[in-house]
Amino acid sequence: MTYYYKLGKIPHKRHTQFYQPDGSLYHEELIGIRGFSGIQSLLYHLHPPTQIHKILLEGTVDIPYEELGPLRQRHLRTATVVSNGDAVAGRIPLMANADVCISVVKPTSLMSYWYRFAQGDEVIFIHEGSGVLESQYGILRYRQGDYLVIPTGVLWRILPDADIEQRMLVIEANGHIEPPTRYLNRYGQFLEHAPYNERDIRPPDELVTHDETGEFEVRVKAGNRITRYFYHCHPLDVVGWDGHLYPFAFNIEDFEPITGRIHQPPTAHQTFEGPGFVVCSFVPRLFDYHPIAIPSPYNHSNVDSDEVIYYVAGNFMSRKGIESASITIHPGGIPHGPHPGMYEGSIGKERTNELAVMIDTFHPLRLTKYALQLEDKDYAYSWIS
Ligand SMILES: [Fe+2]
Repeated sequence: MTYYYKLGKIPHKRHTQFYQPDGSLYHEELIGIRGFSGIQSLLYHLHPPTQIHKILLEGTVDIPYEELGPLRQRHLRTATVVSNGDAVAGRIPLMANADVCISVVKPTSLMSYWYRFAQGDEVIFIHEGSGVLESQYGILRYRQGDYLVIPTGVLWRILPDADIEQRMLVIEANGHIEPPTRYLNRYGQFLEHAPYNERDIRPPDELVTHDETGEFEVRVKAGNRITRYFYHCHPLDVVGWDGHLYPFAFNIEDFEPITGRIHQPPTAHQTFEGPGFVVCSFVPRLFDYHPIAIPSPYNHSNVDSDEVIYYVAGNFMSRKGIESASITIHPGGIPHGPHPGMYEGSIGKERTNELAVMIDTFHPLRLTKYALQLEDKDYAYSWIS
């Protein structure tokens, strides 16, 4: 994140003697990105984080891509998707490229282990549900509409609230996910024109230190390989930390829409940027106020990007036949636009209640065999009057 935060107890100076009540030293761990030149945090453990006593290969994750067919618009209905497993193992990858993998998951069981993604950052959008994101950095409660941004290296697990239905969209990046640079001043602070700022960011707010012994499993995904590491000491034994690298939540309802006299392009809705993609939030807002404005978007050819929209709630102003948890993919190379009647029908409308998450990728995505099972195959022809 762009600002400094600390939780728990830390010594006055970094890399100095810091003693536990029994006279032994606490154990520092620096977690940082881009070598030692990116953002980082310094954690203080009860036990060295290096004491692995057993290592097993869990397996490899090979994305089952579909056979390439003709390039066309796609619509996936994920509302009825059934996933088995927890918030990581139960993920269903729907599309991917070298930069990003997009999955959905409806966790049906608790994570019995902690997880670390070593390749990049993750954003988990909470479509439905609530619970706790537990990490070395503390407790972070999540709720519907949250983007959970988890930087690489964070050791975490999700503990959903009991008997609460959970539905999540997962964006797994091969790199780092950050606020758009144009929202920040030269000091890293959010600018006044940014649609959200530091006050909207929720870091972990309670640090629980576990001093327990037993058998504790941490799974690390590096490349497409998942390895299981076993420790005798609880991995969440941190007594304090400080720095700029930590997981946080940002709720989509806290995104302040930017509106104008005429139609604003999707860049006005940008929320995050990652390597080879951006994430945008379409939220309820007033429409354009030029006296002869057309609120609906115009036809457009996003020639060198694929546009993925995950529909959360409300009526999406330019689309028909879309339901909550639908995903449309409008690939680069061919134009798309409002469905018949929606362009003219938007004239005179004053507001929209649409809620959606858009991911634009700058390299082509390829769908998976799982996506094929959810596809509305008539969608590509749905613009015919
Ligand atoms: Fe579009």
